[in-house]
Amino acid sequence: MNALSKDLTKLVKMIEKIESRTGEPDRFRTRFHLAPPAGWLNDPNGLCQYQGLYHAFFQYSPFDVEGGLKLWGHSTSRDMLHWEYQGAALYPDQPFDCHGVYSGCALIEDGRISFYYTGNVKLDGDFDYVTEGREANTILVESGDGFRFGRKQLLMTNEDYPEDVTKHVRDPKVWKENGIYYMIQGARRKDDVGEALLFASSDRIHWLLKNRITTKEPFGFMWECPDYFEIDGKKILSASVQGLEGEKWKDKNVYQSGYFEVKGHVAEQCTLSEYVLWDYGFDYYAPQSFETEDGRRVQIGWMGMPDCPEHTNRTIEDGWQHCFTIPREIYVKDGRVLQRPVRELEERKRILAEATGGLYVEEESVYEARIAEIKENQFHAVLGEELILEYRDSRFEMRFINPSKDNASGGRTIRYQEIETLNNVTILTDVSTCEVFVNDGEYVFSTRFYPENYGLQIQADEAKIKMWELVS
Ligand code: FRU
Repeated sequence: MNALSKDLTKLVKMIEKIESRTGEPDRFRTRFHLAPPAGWLNDPNGLCQYQGLYHAFFQYSPFDVEGGLKLWGHSTSRDMLHWEYQGAALYPDQPFDCHGVYSGCALIEDGRISFYYTGNVKLDGDFDYVTEGREANTILVESGDGFRFGRKQLLMTNEDYPEDVTKHVRDPKVWKENGIYYMIQGARRKDDVGEALLFASSDRIHWLLKNRITTKEPFGFMWECPDYFEIDGKKILSASVQGLEGEKWKDKNVYQSGYFEVKGHVAEQCTLSEYVLWDYGFDYYAPQSFETEDGRRVQIGWMGMPDCPEHTNRTIEDGWQHCFTIPREIYVKDGRVLQRPVRELEERKRILAEATGGLYVEEESVYEARIAEIKENQFHAVLGEELILEYRDSRFEMRFINPSKDNASGGRTIRYQEIETLNNVTILTDVSTCEVFVNDGEYVFSTRFYPENYGLQIQADEAKIKMWELVS
């Protein structure tokens, strides 16, 4: 540990203590969704399960609730629902990561966790910070237990990336396949086209560029946080894309997170399918996945949105901002890629109400509601008197009654997606988060919300409705 990280360690603890002492009633703190003790959180990083314990690291700015210098925060869990904060893990304490320990991943092998991340450096001067003035370094740091870390090793600099990409290259995700290590990184080309860079290595330290993956037609100017995994014979390339424009993206978020199905091998010749969104709500970005020890593919997203001054989060008043989504199992059924909350949530459910056609429950703020066997697309729900979920005009909508910033919506308005037939809806609410899984999670809508009064009202003629409270 150098002098800088020593002092930063002390300062982070100090600010966390001060924030925990302010005595404000932390009205909107989530019970099961990982949130920072103080300050700002964004992307999930280094997700893994090691010797039974789940580790989630996160982009963390403890000193600035609006986002500032990024460290990696660290939390652990036995069930992906109860998270214990372990302190800051990686500090921007080296010349090659001094303006942020940016996003990255974990690779478990031979009793060791290798963390790969981007070291962000912003040079002083008159630069555009796109084609110049910035360094994106690929860094490896290893750990034998997930809590103590070895020396940071600089593996690649901008010199190792192709000539025609800008300085925006980041967010390595590493996996091993047939004895070869692969690393995928997001990039912005100089002609403002987004792509993914695919590197390979035989020793996980020395890397060579093998492929550049993009769509036939330009698709956004930057791809962030790429991820790659195979599930049920499907090859999934996930990317958080910036710069999508045109009619299709109207009424959608400023940036998107979704996936392509890959035909061929990512390191060789391959083509990408149409892009499918992971989430159609207001708050979802930079998801990362990992494999649990029992073989599930679990994905966690940042329940927030960068560069979106139109929306606010009422937790800022309480000294913290943003949280993760509920960890979601990705699975394939009848050829469709679906999402559902991790099965550990089943053990937290206690039945509250059961009804046919309609239900009204007051005050509950942490619950799951399942509306099954929906007839003729009839569905209307109101959450906390402010948030409406509804099927109308051949689409499923999530919309706020009052879109003003000082209200439950924090400035959010409407999101929707065309859906031919509505079969079922699962609503998961955790104080200030709401995640809606439509048709067994083929479509998901996530949002933060800040209601004054809680409660749930559902109208869905003849549908079977069940509601559970979620207990700690
Ligand atoms: C995505 C992102 C990443 C980057 C990190 C910095 O939200 O911009 O590309 O590594 O956040 O916090």
